[in-house]
Amino acid sequence: MKRTVKVSLVATLCAALLLAAGCGGAPSQPANQGGSNPPAQSGSQTQSSGGEASSEKQVEIFSWWTGAGEAAGLEGLIKLFTEKHPDIEVINAAVAGGAGTNAKAVLASRMSGGNPPDTFQVHAGHELLDTWVAADKMEPLNFLYESEGWNNVFPKQLIDMMSKDGNVYSVAVNIHRGNVMWYNTKVFADNNLTPPTTFDEFFTVAEALKAKGITPLALGDKEPWTALHLFESVLLGVLGPDKYNGLFDGSVPWDDPGVRQALETFKRMLQYVNDDHAARNWQDASQLVAQGKAAMNVMGDWAKGYFTTDLNLKGNVDFGWAPSWNTEGTFMVVSDTFGLPKGIQHRDATIEFLKVLGSKEGQDVFNPLKGSIPARTDADVSKYDEYSKEAMQDWSTNKLTPSIAHGSAASPGFSEKITQVITVFVTTGDVDQAVADLVAAASAELK
Ligand code: GAL
Repeated sequence: MKRTVKVSLVATLCAALLLAAGCGGAPSQPANQGGSNPPAQSGSQTQSSGGEASSEKQVEIFSWWTGAGEAAGLEGLIKLFTEKHPDIEVINAAVAGGAGTNAKAVLASRMSGGNPPDTFQVHAGHELLDTWVAADKMEPLNFLYESEGWNNVFPKQLIDMMSKDGNVYSVAVNIHRGNVMWYNTKVFADNNLTPPTTFDEFFTVAEALKAKGITPLALGDKEPWTALHLFESVLLGVLGPDKYNGLFDGSVPWDDPGVRQALETFKRMLQYVNDDHAARNWQDASQLVAQGKAAMNVMGDWAKGYFTTDLNLKGNVDFGWAPSWNTEGTFMVVSDTFGLPKGIQHRDATIEFLKVLGSKEGQDVFNPLKGSIPARTDADVSKYDEYSKEAMQDWSTNKLTPSIAHGSAASPGFSEKITQVITVFVTTGDVDQAVADLVAAASAELK
């Protein structure tokens, strides 16, 4: 069995590629995140056993899953794949940086340079459809959905998020939930407090914790997507799912009073976050909750993967959860998918990988480690913990809303503009300016 991991090599190339490609954004140095589960080894060139350059029997998997809370699920999937296909070499070409902070720019550069990875992580929804599908860079996968029976086991709504003009273009490995408040159970018990479910309760609890010298809310917005992640959960809580969804089809204007109110609420909330929020990434912020240095944070349920897989914490013992404030009954959907780019070198091996990724067995290996729930509806529920069982229930009964921060709600261009508005807002707190900028961004997008 051969398995080459070249995470570090790709990560090192990242900054150079970003500059060369003129990809924009604010590339922070790719780094091991959170510490406890670093990229496996510094890589070098892929070698076949005979010493010649890369063999035909290979698959290169491109993602941003490195480091704590991120890598274990992918490693589990690769292990399963390698057991089934010992003759196929796996290249794990992950680029560090939460939510694809660096990986997306590297991917853009490779795609435009005619050097696509064999398969890559991309969110269902606009991030897939408005980019690589619109540019005709992906193969339709209808043949795989038919041969594997996937049309019967993936929810139709999810297939729709990966489809255009009757063709489906990727395979979903998971469903993450974005709108989750995580809390430290001991901090709440020791202070005789009840985890808040509404904004009013949040501010009452936050004031009580602050008075005792405890940071109420952890934030780590060194990578700007995390501030947007918190904001979109607040936006959803203020507007409710129908109006939130309306922001993306043009039926609700971005200067709706609810958007202004959400910005006001978010601004007030920022008074209760850790002073060093701009120096932390998402794992560092979640770690504050894990250690009882902060009481709560809002993060997708990859944080649960981090708590349980990396930190060995127990749900409902060390940490608890609830839908973020005022969002009970709504599920903010984040789905990681992988497709088949046109022009790749290892098409057959990649199809075999996609089959494992979309299989019941593959999903039941990946998701318990990652914190997500399977995209398939026929999972072996006994393999999942209490949190995930609840999430499965909510996923099938709640109203669904797409995430801005994780590529489903809006095109990458629009999402990037919203991210910039919120990044500036965290510093200035200027509600009028933020509303004006959001309206301008939306009018360019939704005309
Ligand atoms: C999301 C992705 C998750 C997780 C998270 C943090 O965009 O869907 O799987 O990796 O970013 O990096």
